[in-house]
Amino acid sequence: MKVTIVGAGAVGASCAEYVAIKDFADEVVLIDIKEGFAEGKAMDLMQTSSLNGFDSAITGTTGDYSKTANSDIAVITSGIPRKPGMTREELIGINAGIVKDVSENLVKHSPNVVLIVVSNPMDTMAYLAAKSTGLPKNRVIGMGGALDSARFKYNLAQAMDCPTSEVSAMVIGGHSDTGMVPLIEKATRNSLPVSEFLNAEQQSEIVEATKVGGATLTKLLGTSAWYAPGAAVSEMVKAIALDTKKIFPCSCLLDGQYGLNDICIGVPAVIGKNGIEQILEVELSDAEKEKMKSSAEAVRKTNGLLD
Ligand code: 2OP
Repeated sequence: MKVTIVGAGAVGASCAEYVAIKDFADEVVLIDIKEGFAEGKAMDLMQTSSLNGFDSAITGTTGDYSKTANSDIAVITSGIPRKPGMTREELIGINAGIVKDVSENLVKHSPNVVLIVVSNPMDTMAYLAAKSTGLPKNRVIGMGGALDSARFKYNLAQAMDCPTSEVSAMVIGGHSDTGMVPLIEKATRNSLPVSEFLNAEQQSEIVEATKVGGATLTKLLGTSAWYAPGAAVSEMVKAIALDTKKIFPCSCLLDGQYGLNDICIGVPAVIGKNGIEQILEVELSDAEKEKMKSSAEAVRKTNGLLD
């Protein structure tokens, strides 16, 4: 099992570390454009192998895509992160060209690869990767919902003063500060609706805090978060590598599901060796449908900024 991670910055390197520690990949290749950076990150990570007990072989390369050849899975984290006060959508001018170039290079050397796009604005970058590579739509996935759902679960657990492991919750829709759709009506604490523990105001506060979870961290950190994004995408890599058939909310290229066509946006999907094994059309309330509709309109507007 060979995994390539493009971008050896904070998110990419965190993903590489988590993939290595979960120890399901034979090879992890980190690639970056900054001279020696990926090589240094790979070596530093490999020097943890005797400490963290993994056998995955991590290597780094500066821009040599031949080293990524025959990757089963490739994660795209390259591009610039946002600064405090920026929206993810403002990154499109710089990141679109990078993601297009990276996607095409990856597929040239690994025609059977499953791409997972992390770079922002993620839904639009996933759409760009799908269109520019022509890969089957099951093999281009955007990672946003897994991260947003992790934040949603954390916020719910904090409010209910319970272990996060007791919480089941999902965020669908666009990976944006305004377009996310946290499915609060479906969230549970050990199979019980969260409305048993939280009043309407508390639920609404958690929904709003989840939507800006990324911006909140960017304000604190001065740059985008990296641990949870890296961990979220590493779980999707694992689901593909081990064919676990786990359900993730993730950005999928839709052709009619949820009444949407020709758009990548976060929906529940079964993830396995083929990438997107099945898109799940779950029953949404009228309010959830309305939020999904306006979220899709916003994603489509950002897609319109692509050349
Ligand atoms: C986040 O929400 C980087 O978009 C990512 O932290």
